[in-house]
Amino acid sequence: MKLEGAIILVTGGAKGLGLAIASYLEDQGATMVIADLDSVALAALPDSMGKHLLDVTRADDVKGVVKAIIEQHGRIDVLVNNAGVIFSEPMVNIMRPSELMHDYERFRKSITANLDSVFIMTSAVVEQMVLRRTKGSIVNISSISACGNEGQTAYSAAKAGVNAMTVTWSKELGRLGIRCNAVAPGFIDTVSTNDALNESIIKHIKSSTPLRRLGKAEEVAQGVASLVTNDFINGVVLRIDGGLSI
Ligand SMILES: NC(=O)c1ccc[n+]([C@@H]2O[C@H](COP(=O)([O-])OP(=O)(O)OC[C@H]3O[C@@H](n4cnc5c(N)ncnc54)[C@H](O)[C@@H]3O)[C@@H](O)[C@H]2O)c1
Repeated sequence: MKLEGAIILVTGGAKGLGLAIASYLEDQGATMVIADLDSVALAALPDSMGKHLLDVTRADDVKGVVKAIIEQHGRIDVLVNNAGVIFSEPMVNIMRPSELMHDYERFRKSITANLDSVFIMTSAVVEQMVLRRTKGSIVNISSISACGNEGQTAYSAAKAGVNAMTVTWSKELGRLGIRCNAVAPGFIDTVSTNDALNESIIKHIKSSTPLRRLGKAEEVAQGVASLVTNDFINGVVLRIDGGLSI
């Protein structure tokens, strides 16, 4: 698929990795539509991008926004499921004897934010792709945490689920002309990474990474663009982690 002229919806595209992906794809000639729940960040986006205030965990609202985009643009060629919330909590926290075990409500919340959201969004967009016979492409933003990251039971489980849905959909939807792939970033130099990790952990991550640095948001965007533009790539989870998880 050519990026030039493609109608691309990026969830959570108002900041962070999503914004880097949207800006990169727009530079290649795509028409960008952003759906995000951060109204302030949405308002700061360039006028060239479509903006929809949306919580992607709310199925009815998602259907309404997808309908509005279809009415405006006639189709959605690409969906980038980027919206997510990085969340860390160990299964057992011996430093917190009053609440030793992982809280179940927080587990559910993380699964909803990072896994249910991808199902809900993809369901609404693929329905329109099928009805309109769009030869579309879905790219899910996973994480190397899908392999099981210490201290991230819920987030790791959600991202492993995203990988499983990616492969399942690549098989089911491939015969309808819709490809589905994922990128699994490692540690990328973003505000969210720097908020979540202290300096000594970042130093340790860098020294454990064969390339000895964090990734750049634009490098994740380049990975997304490759998956969208190569029409024979389907069912791939592309690690972009400088070799950290080898
Ligand atoms: N930053 C990294 O190093 C890294 C590494 C691996 C994977 N990821 C994944 O990349 C994606 C983006 O992460 P980021 O670091 O840019 O985070 P971020 O917090 O900077 O940005 C996330 C964006 O998603 C939006 N969002 C969150 N929940 C939403 C919802 N329910 N509905 C609509 N919008 C919602 C936020 O408002 C925000 O604009 C996430 O899926 C994350 O798991 C990030």
